Amino acid sequence: MLKYIDQYPNEIRNKRVVLRVDYNVPLDNGKVKDNTRIIESKQTLDYLLNLNCDVVLLTHLGRPKTEEDKQKYTTRHVLNYLNESGILGRKVEFLDNFDIQYEGGKIYLFENVRFFEGETKNSLELAKKFASLGDVFVNDAFGSLHRVHSSVAGISNFLPTFFGFLVKKEVENLSKFLNPTSLFIVILGGAKISDKLGLIKNIKADKIIIGGAMALTIYKGMGKNVGKSLVEDIDVSYFINNPKIILPKSFVVVDENYQNERVVDIDNIGDSIAVDALVDDETVQLIKNSNMVFWNGPMGIFEKGFRKGSELILKGLEECKGFRAIGGGDTVRFINSVENNKKYIDFISTGGGATLEFLEKGTLDAIDYILSTVKN
Ligand code: 3PG
Repeated sequence: MLKYIDQYPNEIRNKRVVLRVDYNVPLDNGKVKDNTRIIESKQTLDYLLNLNCDVVLLTHLGRPKTEEDKQKYTTRHVLNYLNESGILGRKVEFLDNFDIQYEGGKIYLFENVRFFEGETKNSLELAKKFASLGDVFVNDAFGSLHRVHSSVAGISNFLPTFFGFLVKKEVENLSKFLNPTSLFIVILGGAKISDKLGLIKNIKADKIIIGGAMALTIYKGMGKNVGKSLVEDIDVSYFINNPKIILPKSFVVVDENYQNERVVDIDNIGDSIAVDALVDDETVQLIKNSNMVFWNGPMGIFEKGFRKGSELILKGLEECKGFRAIGGGDTVRFINSVENNKKYIDFISTGGGATLEFLEKGTLDAIDYILSTVKN
């Protein structure tokens, strides 16, 4: 059983809390482009502050590899956003070492945990250092729970560990898809099919609608000409003649300069680039009639204005009376760009890979790790 913070207020009150969040937010020249994950962390943070706790926030940002990446991925970018927007309701102080002198009334944000040797290898030496920042560990980084890393998992060896409200909300909502009621439709888009094969093969969906570049990878594997479209080189035999899989038959295509936009069917892509996948009316109808829908990955390159395919999905979702959830950074950004978006969606998951893995396995590696540590 996961221990959630609201069940243990007496063990948390007045304590110094190390709070692992997932502030791995999209940045554009150092500016935060989407604050969904920050907003979603507030319930836990406010709860802890109301219990008179001091809080140090730990997060990773990006996948830094080189020294130059330290400029790009410092959490100072997030710090600036937090202080400029005032979104957390308190001044946020930056920390890049383990000598913390707590001052009441402030929140602390630690430097990118991935700048520290051993984080992604779940070094227990590093985990112990993170643990030295507080008396209690609260994990509310749902989007990172598929990573057994020092600041996510290893730290639970050294501190009493609880999960926050975001993890609770995600687990409760996503669990609905583990024992689904028919008709359960999964809609997948985006670039890479290889990341989603496990989910596709294991989720108990009645139908899986595939769009985005993923659909083109499958068509290419079936021997179709997909022109200069983005594709992966993988074995697609699972998808061939599989009655569960629905592929779009028409695509928006452009030339190499992203000009001369046209709609063509799959047999007429020529040497163009397909940038958006359009499902047919029957598929929109299927979405409308379903009891549960999970959507991950836009149908086209919506950031460049190719939104028609994803808007067709919205058309189905709008009239669907079932439970409708989305997950994944790009899909969240797409839905956040749509006006009045509450009418299409019941639950927005903050996870990318974590959401897909949870739906595939019904648990996440860091949850299992934490549950197995002696202290918890
Ligand atoms: C995500 O954005 O999916 C999470 O923050 C995990 O990031 P990662 O894939 O770099 O571990």
